[in-house]
Amino acid sequence: MSERTIALVTGANKGIGYEIAAGLGALGWRVGVGARDEQRLAEAVAKLRAGGVDAFGVPLDVTDDASVTAAARLVETEAGGLDVLVNNAGVTGGMPQHPGDVDLATIRTAVEVNVIGVVRVTEAMLPLLRRSASPRIVNMSSGVGSLTRQSASTGEDQTGPLSVAYSPSKTMLNAVTIQYARALAGTNILINAGCPGFTATDLNGFRGVRTPQQGAAIGIRLATLPDDGPTGGYFEDAGVIPW
Ligand SMILES: NC(=O)c1ccc[n+]([C@@H]2O[C@H](COP(=O)([O-])OP(=O)(O)OC[C@H]3O[C@@H](n4cnc5c(N)ncnc54)[C@H](OP(=O)(O)O)[C@@H]3O)[C@@H](O)[C@H]2O)c1
Repeated sequence: MSERTIALVTGANKGIGYEIAAGLGALGWRVGVGARDEQRLAEAVAKLRAGGVDAFGVPLDVTDDASVTAAARLVETEAGGLDVLVNNAGVTGGMPQHPGDVDLATIRTAVEVNVIGVVRVTEAMLPLLRRSASPRIVNMSSGVGSLTRQSASTGEDQTGPLSVAYSPSKTMLNAVTIQYARALAGTNILINAGCPGFTATDLNGFRGVRTPQQGAAIGIRLATLPDDGPTGGYFEDAGVIPW
């Protein structure tokens, strides 16, 4: 195992994932840049390297078993191990997705990427993470996955547009995070879910009000938790999010 911290960020070719990769790279970490498109991957790696990040490319489609298996092998060969996994890749599944007006394929897509994709990548990377001295897993969720916020009838806590694909997929991702935290209790692996806030990226047609750098902050914070940090939690910049 290398003495330097090794991270892998999925969906790191743009948006929040790119900025998480840049932020972890700025700490002197070696960063695996996960991306499903060869061209977009090469461009992101080149840009990160030009900015001084020790980045290496990891072709990675989270919906594809063979791609994820190959990615785990590549990380091991290229970096010798893995300390931090950031499950950032995510999609809305498509719009609209209002109750009463939804294509079931939209739900399947959101769950396939946002939930099953995270489980697929986590399972593949766990053997590497178990060998690390301070392993961390960060699941980029969203505050719209909070059942407390989804069910708030009015006020500040009510969140997000009506959605029967994206928001419920993040609710399930939160539950998946809790299940892994339970299974990994007693190990040194800390796993948490984070929300970047409403951030201007492709995901929302750049309507978000935060910059991708601001959105990346919570992912970086959860990736760099101390050994006595929390696990099985759900956080945004302002603190704990109610489930
Ligand atoms: N933006 C927000 O306001 C906001 C709020 C809450 C939570 N989030 C979460 O933050 C994370 C990052 O989102 P973002 O806003 O940065 O969105 P984004 O700019 O659209 O980036 C999404 C990333 O995921 C990748 N991706 C999608 N499907 C993939 C697959 N099957 N395999 C591998 N990579 C895949 C995309 O790759 P391509 O370029 O190839 O499509 C892209 O790199 C997501 O999990 C999102 O749900 C975002």
